[in-house]
Amino acid sequence: MKSLATLLAFVAVASADRVVTVYNACPFTIWWAWGEYHAYHFQVDLTKYSEMFTDPQSPGGPPNYVTGWEAAKYTAVTFNVPERWNGRIWGRRNCNFANGNTDPNTSCLDGGCNGGLRCALNGGTGVPPATVAEFNLHDAAGLDWYDVSLVDGYNLPMRISTDVGCPAPDCPVDLGPNCPTELKGPFDSVGFPVGCKTACTVDSLAGHNAHNPNCCTNEYNTPATCPPSGVRHYDYFKRNCPNSYAYAFDEGSGTALWTCASSRNAHYTITFCP
Ligand SMILES: *[C@@H]1O[C@H](CO)[C@@H](O)[C@H](O)[C@H]1NC(C)=O
Repeated sequence: MKSLATLLAFVAVASADRVVTVYNACPFTIWWAWGEYHAYHFQVDLTKYSEMFTDPQSPGGPPNYVTGWEAAKYTAVTFNVPERWNGRIWGRRNCNFANGNTDPNTSCLDGGCNGGLRCALNGGTGVPPATVAEFNLHDAAGLDWYDVSLVDGYNLPMRISTDVGCPAPDCPVDLGPNCPTELKGPFDSVGFPVGCKTACTVDSLAGHNAHNPNCCTNEYNTPATCPPSGVRHYDYFKRNCPNSYAYAFDEGSGTALWTCASSRNAHYTITFCP
């Protein structure tokens, strides 16, 4: 009996963490960031996972890793996250934290966070547009949920893959150059678009976030009242990146949200510019 107890204790410790690798395959430097789960995403799922509303902190606490770091081209980092981590990882482009600049709007062209190089732990997501890898690991039903979200727009191509053959959602193409004109940008110093905003972001910046079918707000805040057909330019994102989560209620597409049995203990790799 004693040895069994010892064994179980060992198993409990050994399964307390999961492994995540973040690889910058882009031919330029990007600045990575991670943050805790944000209620806006996985919106439809919130009925199933309502505990995430009451507890903004991920079960098991935050990963024991810096919340933001610089990633030279073709470099990777690997770190542990808690077994039941709810969080997101994204890239920031064209950052400059000189002179102690911690303003999310001016320290990076997009994806910027509160706090500068190291993001504030509960500072929400990056400044849109930003492609976001979202994770809700090991739910009560024993499933990992994950997606490549374009709900906050696009700023880098991305793929999430596993070492156990689970689905590998991606947005492998650069959505910047062919982005609809009204959504295109921001632009770098030579005029190249480093992102493609959503119609919701454009409208919100103009002060029209409320009662807006592009944002699924107010009377449009359900899958039935906020269909993709009512979201301006949804097709541009979904046609080019059919396996991505392209608007707030994209689960209806059947190709937005992905699962992997938690018992498989998947090691997730997030590749930028796959
Ligand atoms: C960043 O810009 C957004 C949108 O204009 C604004 O709501 C927000 O307050 C700005 N943040 C800071 C820290 O200035």
